[in-house]
Amino acid sequence: MTLRARLCAVMQALEVSHLTKVYPNGKRALDDVSFAVPEGSFFALLGPNGAGKTTLISILADVVRPTKGAVRFLGRDLFRERAWCKKRLGVVPQEIAFDPFFTPRDVLRITSGLYGVKPDERWIEELLQRLELAAHADKNTRMLSGGMRRRLLVAQALVHRPRVVVLDEPTAGVDVELRRRLWDFMREINRAGTTILLTTHYLEEAEELCDHVAILREGRLVAAEPMETLMRKLAAAFLWLRPEGEVRDAQLADARLARFRPRRVQGGICLALARDERGRLNVHEAYQAAVAVFGPPVEMEVRREDLEDVFLRLTNRGGRTS
Ligand SMILES: Nc1ncnc2c1ncn2[C@@H]1O[C@H](COP(=O)(O)OP(=O)(O)O)[C@@H](O)[C@H]1O
Ligand SMILES: [Mg+2]
Repeated sequence: MTLRARLCAVMQALEVSHLTKVYPNGKRALDDVSFAVPEGSFFALLGPNGAGKTTLISILADVVRPTKGAVRFLGRDLFRERAWCKKRLGVVPQEIAFDPFFTPRDVLRITSGLYGVKPDERWIEELLQRLELAAHADKNTRMLSGGMRRRLLVAQALVHRPRVVVLDEPTAGVDVELRRRLWDFMREINRAGTTILLTTHYLEEAEELCDHVAILREGRLVAAEPMETLMRKLAAAFLWLRPEGEVRDAQLADARLARFRPRRVQGGICLALARDERGRLNVHEAYQAAVAVFGPPVEMEVRREDLEDVFLRLTNRGGRTS
């Protein structure tokens, strides 16, 4: 390998290749999945229930053995160099199991030891503060609510300051405000250089925060791209306008509007936009055609599908229409 090739190789935090998992009961939970997570990215792994997200994360966490395939972690073979990788990887599993006799502070100290590092008390204190567990730090973990346990799992995954953090549904069951602060904290950690891979059902938050996305459906990968690329490629866009007067059928059938497939929506008309090869929308042409047919509008808006619309379409559960 040339030096350049070697440098490029370590630019990927994770490279999943042809990963396949068939459970003993014959269930194919992952089927030839390949994608890469660039170092420094904030990466969303999405998919409906049963898509294989937890299976993939359990493989990364060494809890599930893959049937086929390889994973490179920071350029190394994850399965052959577990010890090296483990020190640099933090995983938050979906299922929760704490020893009920320990306190959150104990759990964080013990976890440091398991990763082979001396507990960093200041960092532990900061994690307890930032994850809003400080008031519960010395109570038994069995006293914690579901949301608190989940935050403790996040703290556990971060306690050894890993370069890559993998979180399975870290915000499930966490209320809106706290979820927002949790995402803020993850964004901070990401800005400081930590790669984050997470699964979530909160697609709006994923769209806002994540710069990369992969979508699984029934064990197969249906997309893996920078968020912006995916949205530009797959999110349909519309121009909605409300003309001054009544919209007449004859106007809707006007040949100048035909390529925009006009429909009546919310007291106005909705025109489907298209992109050219450089990704630019033909919003100006649509506007001009509408003005030619209806005169100047009294209200208008460009609407674009969001990640949820794209997700629903890709995972074949029907889509919302705008
Ligand atoms: N231990 C197991 N044995 C058999 N099938 C399993 C096991 N774990 C998960 N599955 C199945 O594999 C598929 C993927 O599950 P999972 O990875 O948990 O998906 P997700 O996290 O995306 O909801 C599902 O159909 C699930 O029922
Ligand atoms: Mg899951």
